[in-house]
Amino acid sequence: MHDDYVLIPAAPAVDDYRRLRVATGLSAKSAEAAARGLPNTLFGVRLEWQGQVVGMGRLIGDNGCFYQVVDIAVDPTHQGKGLGKRIVAALVDWITANVPETGYVSLIADGPAHALYAQFGFVPTAPASVGMALKRQSRSALD
Ligand SMILES: CC(C)(COP(=O)(O)OP(=O)(O)OC[C@H]1O[C@@H](n2cnc3c(N)ncnc32)[C@H](O)[C@@H]1OP(=O)(O)O)[C@@H](O)C(=O)NCCC(=O)NCCS
Repeated sequence: MHDDYVLIPAAPAVDDYRRLRVATGLSAKSAEAAARGLPNTLFGVRLEWQGQVVGMGRLIGDNGCFYQVVDIAVDPTHQGKGLGKRIVAALVDWITANVPETGYVSLIADGPAHALYAQFGFVPTAPASVGMALKRQSRSALD
């Protein structure tokens, strides 16, 4: 099923990253933000189809105590083929092999994506803990 898709254990390049976020309905990131952030990836994967990046996922954090799964995305024309599961499975394999027993791995699940993460052992933090995000004022830095 996955024969046409190649999973590469590295984060996408800045342009592919920015394109894929917007194409999948995630918030846009400026070129500066992506160029600063991507090199700090602990472990990232990208999925290529005919040389084109059509999926990605990243693990970020301090590589000891706290980790966050981010940027899980599959191009809409390639969704529903198990690629999201393949990306998350690769990240979970890395987590299993590399994260200390006391490391805390979390994520913010958008919409129905919680059903994807639940298949890999992620459980809701609420009601004991509620995810919160800082509300930012300016969105003008996108170029
Ligand atoms: C979430 C996403 C990566 C799933 O990619 P995918 O390749 O379609 O996923 P898969 O085919 O591997 O399906 C895996 C699971 O995703 C879930 N799923 C199915 N449709 C979904 C949808 N529209 N949105 C989210 N999750 C969905 C199901 O639980 C499915 O498991 P199942 O087939 O056993 O029921 C993809 O829908 C996407 O890029 N969405 C937009 C960006 C986004 O919301 N990313 C998550 C941010 S937290």
